Amino acid sequence: MCGIFCLLSLSAAPSERDRTVHEHLKRRGPDSSRDVTVQGPNLGCRCLFSAHVLHMRGRLTQQPLQDGLGNLLAWNGEVFGGLPLTTEDNDTSVVSERLSSCNDPSDVLSVLSSLRGPWAFVYYQKDGDFLWFGRDFFGRRSLLWRFDAEFDALTLTSVAAQTSEAVNSAWREVPAAGVFRIDLKAFTETGSLTFELYPWAHTEDDVLSTCSETLVPIGCTAVINQSGLFLTSPVSRLNTSLPKSTNDTETCSNSHLSVEDLQQLLEGKEKDDEVSALIDVLSEAVRQRVQFLPFREKEEDSPPTPERATVAVLFSGGIDSMILAALADRHIPAHQPIDLLNVAFKLHEPKTQKQSVKKPKKHKNKPSNSNTDRAADSKTFNPFDVPDRITGKAGLKELRDLNPDRKWNFVEVNVTQEELQRLRRERVCHLVHPLETVLDDSIGCAVWFAARGTGVIMKEEEEEEEEKSFTSTAKVILTGIGADEQLAGYSRHRVRFKTSGHEGLIQELVMELGRISSRNLGRDDRVIGDHGKEARFPYLDEDVVNYLNALPVWEKADLSLPRGVGEKLLLRLTAKRLGLGPSAVLPKRAMQFGSRIAKMEDGHEKASDKCSRLLTG
Ligand SMILES: *[C@@H]1O[C@H](CO)[C@@H](O)[C@H](O)[C@H]1NC(C)=O
Ligand SMILES: *[C@@H]1O[C@H](CO)[C@@H](O)[C@H](O)[C@H]1NC(C)=O
Ligand SMILES: *[C@@H]1O[C@H](CO)[C@@H](O)[C@H](O)[C@H]1NC(C)=O
Ligand SMILES: *[C@@H]1O[C@H](CO)[C@@H](O)[C@H](O)[C@H]1NC(C)=O
Ligand SMILES: *[C@@H]1O[C@H](CO)[C@@H](O)[C@H](O)[C@H]1NC(C)=O
Repeated sequence: MCGIFCLLSLSAAPSERDRTVHEHLKRRGPDSSRDVTVQGPNLGCRCLFSAHVLHMRGRLTQQPLQDGLGNLLAWNGEVFGGLPLTTEDNDTSVVSERLSSCNDPSDVLSVLSSLRGPWAFVYYQKDGDFLWFGRDFFGRRSLLWRFDAEFDALTLTSVAAQTSEAVNSAWREVPAAGVFRIDLKAFTETGSLTFELYPWAHTEDDVLSTCSETLVPIGCTAVINQSGLFLTSPVSRLNTSLPKSTNDTETCSNSHLSVEDLQQLLEGKEKDDEVSALIDVLSEAVRQRVQFLPFREKEEDSPPTPERATVAVLFSGGIDSMILAALADRHIPAHQPIDLLNVAFKLHEPKTQKQSVKKPKKHKNKPSNSNTDRAADSKTFNPFDVPDRITGKAGLKELRDLNPDRKWNFVEVNVTQEELQRLRRERVCHLVHPLETVLDDSIGCAVWFAARGTGVIMKEEEEEEEEKSFTSTAKVILTGIGADEQLAGYSRHRVRFKTSGHEGLIQELVMELGRISSRNLGRDDRVIGDHGKEARFPYLDEDVVNYLNALPVWEKADLSLPRGVGEKLLLRLTAKRLGLGPSAVLPKRAMQFGSRIAKMEDGHEKASDKCSRLLTG
């Protein structure tokens, strides 16, 4: 993960960049920083490039990378496929080489279409004076933009900053709709900015239907190139077939089944071929994301220590993270530990007897979270025993059973309200920006603390368990995002299925994947990148999505079955095949509730409300 930045302005205008933004960018790319300004003799504008590199593979390649022709590339991405790359190659150089040999826009588009993996980039193409930029098909890397009408200046950056001033040139996420091209000569002549958009599409027909009202900054315009050029979508369309005969209506609402009942229900659902194929494709996606990583060393010449993990998993003990951990175990050398990052926000002390009597009433219709309630009520109250901590510990046990020889570092990240408030103000509010809801705040903070990886691990010393403070040094963080979106894991899927059957469910799934960039991925990339670590999303690997998209919806989920079985059915069967236990039938629990961050704050807010805590000043 790198921090990239480009400020485009007319030569006559003052060129001043936001120092806070610069500091934020440096945190994303701690290994090398460099500025390069492009200002041709016959170009009446200038581009200030600033790039900050997090070294992940090959030899450290400084950025922005300039080739012999004067083209300039700022690349925040990982090429996992599509180009021939060996483990020694640095992907920035290879992408730059490919782009150097491009003459026409169609060449550039074909290079970008061929890449597999997450990316965001800004590229100055000397021949013709064009500035290109954009994000990959899913939007797995952040890119923000802002146009300052006063100075006719456009800023592109991986991360921005929250300000208290009311600015009319607000930051926005560059939509992951395609790649954009600016004709710098035309900009110099007119002083107005026009983006030519080359959209992601399956066919030429899609190009015509792409909405042109993409969210461009105020004062700029976007046009779809009339030539019909487009980037070829890396994944096939979602299979929209409907089952021949359906029993949509007889949904089972019984949510009080025991783990054994649920496991038995799962027994009866064999989907051997689909499970095998999913394991193959997902395992390969994990392999590409965990192998050949450098250690992060504190001192340059200290010898590599075998006890350091290179890979961590955002770990709740839920099925998505369990599967990632189990597959990572297959591909990470046996002597290397794997860090499991588990975040908990401090619970309030249980109320006095009198007050707690009321509690059960309120939760009458909720599926019983018996474990947590019991823990909270028992005498040995531990304020960090939140639901995700409890399932996390259970998951750890399953993983130990699966591979007892592996060192699993279960990192208990405990967060108090004071720490949450301080670091939200200092860091997280800037990273979440320009997103702004209560949900963005909760997830942004929870992911930030988890990804920091500072907490305690239990060390077993001669039969005794001892707490030891610990900070994860893994540069790569695997997250399970994308599983719920593709395999109908959210409760809104169940609601939709109940009201509109398979057709409604399919529409919901199409929408989920279409908006994942603007709802989640940019934000998560900014939040995790702040630690000089890189988020990787195996469930959003192109081949995984392609495979899941091709399956008819009823192979992936059966929402007539109860919670804990029906949603993400195929993934549950996969977990079972991988040898996992009760975690295979854990119902979905959203991170803001599982970590109890939502409980720490005002309980009366709606997730979609604007979050006032994110505002500074
Ligand atoms: C990056 O990799 C390319 C080969 O792909 C190599 O030619 C180049 O020297 C490398 N750059 C650095 C700075 O190591
Ligand atoms: C579309 O792209 C072609 C090829 O670069 C270019 O000649 C043409 O002017 C572009 N059309 C518009 C409307 O910008
Ligand atoms: C639908 O339900 C009926 C009665 O429960 C059953 O006989 C039939 O096989 C079911 N059909 C499908 C496609 O599952
Ligand atoms: C963190 O929480 C765990 C409970 O999950 C507890 O055992 C541990 O003592 C806590 N550590 C710190 C440093 O508060
Ligand atoms: C969609 O699923 C159905 C049923 O399995 C299958 O026959 C069809 O070929 C699939 N369509 C695509 C485009 O993959």
